[in-house]
Amino acid sequence: MDRILVRGGKPLIGSIPISGAKNATLPALAASLLTDKPLMLSNIPHLRDVTTMLELLGQHGAAITVDERLGVEIDCSGIHNTQAPYDLVRTMRASVLVMGPLLARYGQAEISLPGGCAIGTRPVNLHLRGLEAMGAEIRLEEGYIKARAKRLRGATFIFDLVTVTGTENLMMAAALADGETILENTACEPEVVDLARLLNKMGAHIEGAGTSCIRIQGVEHLHGAEHHILPDRIETGTFMIAAAITGGDITLNRTDPHILEAPIAKLRQAGVVIEEGPDSLRVSTDGLLRAVDITTFPYPGFPTDLQAQMLVLNSISTGAGTVTETIFENRFMHVSELQRLGANITLQGNTAIVRGGVKLRGAPVMATDLRASASLVLAGLAAAGETFISRVYHIDRGYERIEEKLMALGADIHRLSH
Ligand code: EPZ
Repeated sequence: MDRILVRGGKPLIGSIPISGAKNATLPALAASLLTDKPLMLSNIPHLRDVTTMLELLGQHGAAITVDERLGVEIDCSGIHNTQAPYDLVRTMRASVLVMGPLLARYGQAEISLPGGCAIGTRPVNLHLRGLEAMGAEIRLEEGYIKARAKRLRGATFIFDLVTVTGTENLMMAAALADGETILENTACEPEVVDLARLLNKMGAHIEGAGTSCIRIQGVEHLHGAEHHILPDRIETGTFMIAAAITGGDITLNRTDPHILEAPIAKLRQAGVVIEEGPDSLRVSTDGLLRAVDITTFPYPGFPTDLQAQMLVLNSISTGAGTVTETIFENRFMHVSELQRLGANITLQGNTAIVRGGVKLRGAPVMATDLRASASLVLAGLAAAGETFISRVYHIDRGYERIEEKLMALGADIHRLSH
C-alpha cells in the first residue's frame, strides 16, 4: 500500500501543465457506447478512474487503442455484454454512466448498484426516474439495476435536485431516443457542456447545455468523432491553493480560467494574487492571507470538490472562516485528519468553523476519499516537519502524478511503496 511522504515548509515555484478533466473524461468514454463508429479522445488524464472506465468498456466488448500521445480510440462496434459488474462499479460509482448509453443503443442494461462511498450514500434514484420517464422498465434485483426498453422515447423530466452524472446519463440516453426530451433543473457544470459538445459532434441535437434546461432531439444513429477533453478545473484549483498556502509563485498552463470564476474570486478575497492568461493562471501571495467563508454549490457556485482544500487555506490564514457543505451529507472526514496536523476546526452540522493563524505540524494521516486526500497533501506542504499520508490510492483516482507535478515545483515529496 503506497504512502506519500511530504516535508513541508518549501514555497512552490515554477510552472506545470494541467491535465484533462477526470469528470469530463468518464462521461466521454461512456458516450462511445452510443455508436458503432470509433471515438477518438485526446488530452485524457492517466488516472485510476479512467483505467477503471476503460476496463469496464473492455468487458462490454469495446476495442480500445491508446496512441503514443496517450490519446484513446474506443470502438464499440463489437459490444457483446450489457452488464456492469459489482467488482468494477464498487471501485468507481461513475460506472453508472454506462447505463443511459447501453439502454439507448442496446435496449437493455444491467448495472450493479454503486453502493455508497465515504462522502455519502450517493443514490442514483434520479437517474432511474428519468429513464423510466423515457419509457424504460427498471427492476432492482440482487444488488443490480436491471433496465430494459424497446426504444426510449422523448419525455419532459424535472430533476428534484441538481445531479451532474444524472444530467449526463439522461442527456446520453435522450440522444438516441424517439422524439424530443426536455430536461429541467439540470447541472450546468463545464463537464456537462463538454459532453454535449462531444455528443453534437457525433450527430446529436442538444441545446441548452450549461443552463438549467437542456433540449435533446433524438436521432436514429450517432457517428464517431474526435474530441479534446477540457482542462481539469479541480486539479487547477487544488494547485492554486497549494501555491497560496506555501507562499509560492506558480504558473498553471493548459487550463481555462473561465471555468474557475468562483474559486478565483474566493482566493482573491483571501488575498491570493492571481493573474489570468487565455489558458493559464499565475498564482502568488504578497503578504497575509485572510480566512474566508465558503458555501459549496452546484456550478457556477463554489465546487464541493475544492471544499477540503479550502479548509487547509483557512487554517493557515489570519482570522476565521466558515465552510458550509451543501452537496454531500458526509464530506468532512478529512477534518479529523487535519486536526492531527494541528488545524483548529469545529464542525457544526454541515458547517466547519475554521480558526486561522495555526502553524501546522507534520504527522501520520490517512486519506479517506479523493479530494480529502489532496487536502492532506496540501496540509503536508504547509506543515513543519514530515507528514506521512497512507491509502494514497484515493489520490491516484483523481490526480495525475501529483507528487511528480509537485516535485517539479520544488516540493519535498516522495512516494514510498511500502
Ligand atoms: C459528480 O458526482 C462528480 N463526479 C463529483 O466529483 C462531484 O463531487 C459531484 O458531481 C458534485 O459536483 C463525476 O462527475 C464523475 P451528483 P455525482 O449526482 O454526479 C444527490 C470527484 O471528486 N443525488 O451531482 O455523483 C447526491 O447524493 C467526484 O471527482 C441524488 O440524491 O454527484 C448528492 O448529494 C466526487 N440522487 C447530490 O445529489 C441521484 O439520483 C449531487 O450529486 C443523484 C444524485
